[in-house]
Amino acid sequence: MEVKKIGKTDMYISEIGFGGLSIAGFHYGKTKDKESIEAIKEALELGINFFDTADIYGFGKSEIILSEGLAENREKVIIATKVGLRWNKKKEKSYCDLSPGYIFEAALNSLFNLNIKKIPLYQIHYPDPKISAREIMEALNKLKEEGKIQHIGCSNFTKSDIDKYQKFGRIESIQIGYNLLDQSAEKIFKACKKWDMSVIAYSPLAQGLLTGKYQKTKFGKNDRRKKSKYFSPKVLKKIKPLLEKMKEIGEKYQKTLAQVALRWILDNSNITCIIIGAKTASEIKEAAGASGWKLAKKERDELTKLGKRVMI
Ligand SMILES: NC(=O)c1ccc[n+]([C@@H]2O[C@H](COP(=O)([O-])OP(=O)(O)OC[C@H]3O[C@@H](n4cnc5c(N)ncnc54)[C@H](OP(=O)(O)O)[C@@H]3O)[C@@H](O)[C@H]2O)c1
Repeated sequence: MEVKKIGKTDMYISEIGFGGLSIAGFHYGKTKDKESIEAIKEALELGINFFDTADIYGFGKSEIILSEGLAENREKVIIATKVGLRWNKKKEKSYCDLSPGYIFEAALNSLFNLNIKKIPLYQIHYPDPKISAREIMEALNKLKEEGKIQHIGCSNFTKSDIDKYQKFGRIESIQIGYNLLDQSAEKIFKACKKWDMSVIAYSPLAQGLLTGKYQKTKFGKNDRRKKSKYFSPKVLKKIKPLLEKMKEIGEKYQKTLAQVALRWILDNSNITCIIIGAKTASEIKEAAGASGWKLAKKERDELTKLGKRVMI
């Protein structure tokens, strides 16, 4: 498994990372904790050393399951968790809170849930327009000084958020949605290069759609995909030519559709790592099969073009 450096740090992460959203068992369909733990153990076996989670994923559950699955390896790998999204129970909706008081409280909770002494990468989940970038970064810088976190990352920032926040401290990475169907993240790549920030791609399989296993939306109430932009009837209708081309290319390399979708991202030199929300050991094993080969430029270009046509 290839490893790449995060920002200006001396931390190296595997190009395939493990995503902890779907294992939280909240708003992502059915999950079984035993299977999630087996998936984490399999990830370690495959040489994966980057594990992403967030305090809001299952309200701590993802962090707890991750810690359990990693067991004695939890201080050896690079765990990235996030702060800044909270849950309004009444409205059944998340909201931003990056007030310094909440940042300090959330960091202690994440350290407890993960059962580690220091969070290797602490990421701002979404920018909070109510609080100034200076105040937010001061709180995170303080956590760094206190040794509670090692490095700061961000997520879902625009180019202007990046420029604004970088003035008040060092942000090493950004996490952003990027896959064949949503290529809009490309507009921040230049700013990331300018600041020497790593780009970590999330939802690389478009929440499972790019595996080719979903022809219809049949998600229950406890599944964010019921309302997802990726699973609209229009997208499901228009995705066929892309999936057919992915299948044709995959057959040439003896790779599955999921592996072709992931390889398309890895072949972009702006990307440091892709995080896959695997629910089982076999899903993460399949994802790891995206490492160690390359698409021909012509094939990549064809997929880029077909992918761009689906969501418009
Ligand atoms: N920073 C942010 O705001 C943000 C937002 C979203 C996600 N993330 C991070 O990125 C990670 C991945 O994103 P994501 O979960 O949205 O999308 P994803 O990785 O594109 O899709 C995950 C889903 O695809 C299906 N799947 C995964 N591997 C598969 C395989 N090999 N074969 C068949 N199906 C497979 C699984 O669902 P089924 O088995 O139910 O089909 C799984 O839950 C998350 O876990 C989280 O860590 C971050």
